[in-house]
Amino acid sequence: MIGLMIEENLMEPQPPPTLPTTFGCLRPWRADDLPALVKYANNRKIWLNLRDGFPHPYTEENGRAFIQAAAQRPAFFAIATPEEAVGSIGLSINEDVHRLTAEMGYWLAEPYWGKGIMSEAVTRITEYAFEHLGLVRIYAEPYEHNQASCKVLEKAGYTLEGRLRKNAIKDGQIIDMFLYAKVKE
Ligand SMILES: CC(C)(COP(=O)(O)OP(=O)(O)OC[C@H]1O[C@@H](n2cnc3c(N)ncnc32)[C@H](O)[C@@H]1OP(=O)(O)O)[C@@H](O)C(=O)NCCC(=O)NCCS
Repeated sequence: MIGLMIEENLMEPQPPPTLPTTFGCLRPWRADDLPALVKYANNRKIWLNLRDGFPHPYTEENGRAFIQAAAQRPAFFAIATPEEAVGSIGLSINEDVHRLTAEMGYWLAEPYWGKGIMSEAVTRITEYAFEHLGLVRIYAEPYEHNQASCKVLEKAGYTLEGRLRKNAIKDGQIIDMFLYAKVKE
């Protein structure tokens, strides 16, 4: 019986912790983040740099579904100022022999670009993943045109491992991607 309870506890999704940052914090998504999420995510400039699974236009329904799904994931964080959620950063943990690795994805509300927020968020989440999630490798795959994201990854100590040639079709264009990774030392 106790064994069963422990097993059930392990199955229960645990929300991520709140991690303080200079701009505010990285914290679990909340239902009341919906208006800010929809306001900022509904931006073609953001969509152009993400996979097509990120909707555009971005509706309230999309936002509600995302907030619900994020609650089931161990490392999907809202990037938040003291006032509101201004972006998203998350780890998709892989399976099978890749289970100690995760892909990192992120976006930031356009009014907050260029203030160092994502460089700090990526650094903080990478530390958290190595210290608390048992992961040994985090990677990200920015599109070749995304110099800002490449810079963010380099500032957070990621290494460019290669160019993935013709790895995506985005907005009708076949494009290369870069593979950046950081491993636990
Ligand atoms: C990419 C993104 C996350 C960057 O976030 P940010 O908080 O503005 O980044 P930072 O302020 O930490 O800046 C990182 C560096 O990139 C540089 N940078 C910004 N825009 C740039 C550009 N267009 N070209 C080259 N470098 C750029 C900054 O100058 C900074 O370097 P510095 O500190 O040496 O000056 C943000 O622009 C975004 O959300 N874009 C849309 C979604 C996206 O691209 N997600 C990533 C998918 S892989």
